[in-house]
Amino acid sequence: MDQNQLKQAVAKAAIDYIQPKLEADTIVGVGTGSTANYFIDYLAQIKGLFDGAVASSEASAERLKSHGIPVYDLNTVDRVLVYVDGADETNPNKQLIKGGGAALTREKIVAAVAEEFVCIADESKWVETLGAFPLPVEVIPMARSHVGRALLKLGGNPVYRQGVVTDNGNIIIDLHGLAITDPVALETEINQIVGVVCNGLFAARPADVLLLGGAEGVKQF
Ligand code: 5RP
Repeated sequence: MDQNQLKQAVAKAAIDYIQPKLEADTIVGVGTGSTANYFIDYLAQIKGLFDGAVASSEASAERLKSHGIPVYDLNTVDRVLVYVDGADETNPNKQLIKGGGAALTREKIVAAVAEEFVCIADESKWVETLGAFPLPVEVIPMARSHVGRALLKLGGNPVYRQGVVTDNGNIIIDLHGLAITDPVALETEINQIVGVVCNGLFAARPADVLLLGGAEGVKQF
């Protein structure tokens, strides 16, 4: 199977995982990216089994709506049963790097609200130590240089992601070249830099369940 087929397989596995939990009033949290897109397309096939979704990006909201799945503002829902999303990297503790698609802040908000976070990824995302994938940091535009200098002091190489504006109107700096041995500490430290909105480490709140697709099928961790 190629990478896209693996992404499809984990998206389908996520449907099989959540389907028995769905009720008529269930709100499903939906992530962003190509793996999440496969999940949305499968979710459309069972849209009669739940109420609707909250989305972690405008792109996912549009895709959900195009399938006729109601999309709610997060502030109007009492409960998000489960959040399903991809990742750029996962370690064995289900701590993640996310934000390759620049949706990290909304992704982290929906993950924080959801009762369960199910991460879906192909095996290329599995690492022992996070950091080979550059860590995305969402930054208020006027703080770009200040945050860049502060990130440099952490020992990495910050690179401004040219031409990208997040759904929140901010910019992304990708932090290259860090071997992240203490993800919770680094997540906290970067969040303390004035001008940082959010960083792509999902370590303080890791995934609860990881569905990892490989040559031998989908494994659940
Ligand atoms: C978007 C994300 C995605 O989950 C991550 O980039 C993985 O994307 P894909 O499923 O396309 O490989 O964090 O901000």
